[in-house]
Amino acid sequence: MKKFRYIAWGLVVVLLGAVGYTMLMQNSNTGTNSVVEAADIGGSFSLVDHNGQSVDQSAFNQKPFAIFFGFTNCPDVCPTSLYEMAGWIEKLGPDSEKLGYAFVSVDPTRDTPDVLKDYVNAFSDKIVGMTGSEEQVADIIKSYRVYARKVPLEYGDYTMDHTASVYLMKADGTFHGTIAYGEDPETAVKKLENLVRTAS
Ligand code: NI
Repeated sequence: MKKFRYIAWGLVVVLLGAVGYTMLMQNSNTGTNSVVEAADIGGSFSLVDHNGQSVDQSAFNQKPFAIFFGFTNCPDVCPTSLYEMAGWIEKLGPDSEKLGYAFVSVDPTRDTPDVLKDYVNAFSDKIVGMTGSEEQVADIIKSYRVYARKVPLEYGDYTMDHTASVYLMKADGTFHGTIAYGEDPETAVKKLENLVRTAS
């Protein structure tokens, strides 16, 4: 049963990758310039941080930022990604202060600020957990073009399928690039260093 679960999650990851790739391909096939498409990712948002305070894009203090979407009950992708993000932050050293980091819940029903706070702090005190009302979360999911879907499990339980990429955003909130799930740590840190450079 456990083995089956791992295989099932492996398939989910592969499927998400395929969906993401297809979406990218569809975007690049619409005839519009890819820069314009990229510019469509992001935008202003209104959420609640893991201390229960209202937050918007000004939370990053005019710094470029790395933002990731997930949920605390995630069995694999989210803990792995947050663990890796904590590692990148450490490798960046002093430069890590020049960026903001956020983990946005796609499961606001279960991810209250308190739940998020404990979860995110277990990985890094630099990553800000963000949640909000169903509507607030739906809004940022839409503006960031994130894929997130509730998947029913046995006994009335559910899990979430969601985009596994980390979005890299410039200080003005416009899209810079992504770090893929499982990206080589050196490449990931280089991407973050490039993101730091967009600020100067
Ligand atoms: Ni996840």
